[in-house]
Amino acid sequence: MKWKVTLSDLNFDQREQKAVERVIKSRWLTMGETVERLERDFSDFIGIKHAIAVSSGTAALHLAMRVLEIEAGDEVIVPSLSFVASSNAILYVGAKPVFVDITGWDDFNLSCEDLKKKINPKTKAIVVVHYGGYVADMEEIKRVARKYKLFIIEDAAHAIGAKSNSKMAGNLGDIGCFSFFSNKNLATGEGGMIVTQSDQHAKKLKLLRSHGMTSMTLSRHKGHAYSYDVVELGYNYRMTEMAAALGILQLKKLPDANEKRRILTELYMTKLKDVDGLSIPFREYPRPSSYHLFPVLLNRIVNREKFMELLKKERIQSSIHYPPIHTFSYYRRIINRKEIQLPLTEYAGAHEVTLPLHPLLEKKDVILVCDKIKEILPLTLR
Ligand SMILES: Cc1ncc(COP(=O)(O)O)c(C=O)c1O
Repeated sequence: MKWKVTLSDLNFDQREQKAVERVIKSRWLTMGETVERLERDFSDFIGIKHAIAVSSGTAALHLAMRVLEIEAGDEVIVPSLSFVASSNAILYVGAKPVFVDITGWDDFNLSCEDLKKKINPKTKAIVVVHYGGYVADMEEIKRVARKYKLFIIEDAAHAIGAKSNSKMAGNLGDIGCFSFFSNKNLATGEGGMIVTQSDQHAKKLKLLRSHGMTSMTLSRHKGHAYSYDVVELGYNYRMTEMAAALGILQLKKLPDANEKRRILTELYMTKLKDVDGLSIPFREYPRPSSYHLFPVLLNRIVNREKFMELLKKERIQSSIHYPPIHTFSYYRRIINRKEIQLPLTEYAGAHEVTLPLHPLLEKKDVILVCDKIKEILPLTLR
């Protein structure tokens, strides 16, 4: 199937190709000067002291759990309306994910009211996912975290360049985690970044990223170190030089790309605001987003499967963000369903549709999608 309008696309050109070629010609493929440069550029961009490159957003979340010493017996609060990695990272360290509901139809970020209800003496941290690039209410979340002495881990996979009170997402809690997966605002194929102000955490994160080894191959190659010790149980979560070369260019393109996403989002909102059969979350949102996703919420009487099928017939790609994590077979086996009441998450999980949004889209593409939606919707009523 050749899509007319794709859900996302790579904002790549000749420059990305050349940058990767340069790395290959240099004959140094991993954890070298390109990775170091990306880390410097990224920490400058976020306005934070340390940025540590890793192999994926999932690796970033896992290391965040490790460095904050979250372990078996601890509970971590996390939205269920997210990608499964947000919660899997909690399970990797033997802790228990406790799912929190969303705020409402106009805000898919975690509900501060429900958050307060989920806290108990075992609670150690909150994973705050900035859904679709819209930054959660960090003022209130921080108040709660301070009161109960909880860590805040930002899952900022969607939110590169989004802000709250002119501070970048990722720099609003204790640790910020980013993903550079292919469909993200900054794409390197696979890749991620952890950011922190803490020197101590940065030092440990660097160890954990590479098997707890006290020296890296590059420094041995350069003759700075000839051996190493292993001082932590770490992982191979290293980033390649090819990914870092893509990341450096993608970061330069990010402000313009996010601005294009903003303009397209506003056009969608204008075109769809009075359409019967759907509503648009985040319409009046108070904080600047990175506009990663454009979600709509279909009314109860609209058959989502049929709606997505008819869009597909028009060669318009759509998706769902997200099937709630607690409804997956694996999670149903390991959690007590009776303990879980997330009515808003379950409704959004059953009725949300994500429409195409990326910086290569043109206004005419958005207009086409909106026109087709207006044609299709009346045909999908139950
Ligand atoms: C909200 C969220 N968290 C975490 C991740 C995990 O990132 P990655 O795919 O780079 O491991 C993703 C992306 O896929 C995501 O969307």
